Amino acid sequence: MKIVVAKDYEGVSAHAAGIMLEVVRKNPYAVLGLATGTTPLGLYAYMIADHEKKGTSYAHIRTVNLDEYKGLPAAHEQSYAYFMRKNLFDGLDIDPENTNIENGMAADEAAECARYDAILEMLPRDIQLLGLGSNGHIAFNEPGTPFGIGTHVVTLAESTVRDNARLFESIDEVPRKAFTMGIRQIMQAKKILILASGANKADAVYKMARGEVTPDVPASVLQLHPDCILIADRAAAAKL
Ligand code: F6R
Repeated sequence: MKIVVAKDYEGVSAHAAGIMLEVVRKNPYAVLGLATGTTPLGLYAYMIADHEKKGTSYAHIRTVNLDEYKGLPAAHEQSYAYFMRKNLFDGLDIDPENTNIENGMAADEAAECARYDAILEMLPRDIQLLGLGSNGHIAFNEPGTPFGIGTHVVTLAESTVRDNARLFESIDEVPRKAFTMGIRQIMQAKKILILASGANKADAVYKMARGEVTPDVPASVLQLHPDCILIADRAAAAKL
C-alpha cells in the first residue's frame, strides 16, 4: 500500500482529485467505483470545479457505487443514490443511465445482489474510491465479513449506525440494513484509492496499513492489492 500523508482534509481532497482526474482524462470511457460518506465530498467538489472550469467530460464515463441503505428509495434525501446526484452527478455532464447503485427498495434481496454482481462483472473498474469506517469497514463490509463474497445484504454494526446518525434527524431513522459490494469485488478494481481524514480514523488507519491482514479489520485486505493508495491527513495518519 502506497501511503501519502497530506496536511489536512483539503490536502487529501486535492491529492485525490489529481489521481481521479488523471484516470478520467486518460480514458474518457473509464469505469469509476465511487463512495458516499463525508470523506469524498472535497474530492467531488474538485471534480465538479474541474468540469466547470476545464471542461473535463464525463459523457462516456460509467460509475458503480459501493452501497445503498435497504428500505430507502432513490428519491429519499438520505439515500446514497440521492447523495450521489446532489454531491457529484448533478454537477457533471454524466448520463444518469451510466451510473449504477444497488436498489434499496428491491424486495428480492438475492435477485438484487445477482443483478449488481452482473453489473460489476460487466464493468471492470479502472479505479475504486473508498472511505474508511472507524471500525475498519470498507463499503459496508463490517468486521468479520469473509473476503471472498460478492454483493450482499448486511446488518450494520452498532458503531456504524452511531457514526451515520449525524446525517439523520435521530438515530432511530438510520436504516439497520444495507446492500453492499463485497470485498472480493473491491479488490478486483485496477487501482484503489482510500481516503481518511480526522483523528477518529487514526486507529483504523493504523490497523489497516500496519496490522495483520484479517477479516476482523476488513480494510486490512487492501495490503494485498497491487495498486492501492492511501491518502490520509496528519490526524488520521498520527499512529502510523
Ligand atoms: C460509503 C461507504 C462507507 C464509508 C465509511 C466512511 O459509501 O461505503 O464505507 O466510506 O463509512 O464514512 P465517512 O466518509 O462518512 O467517514
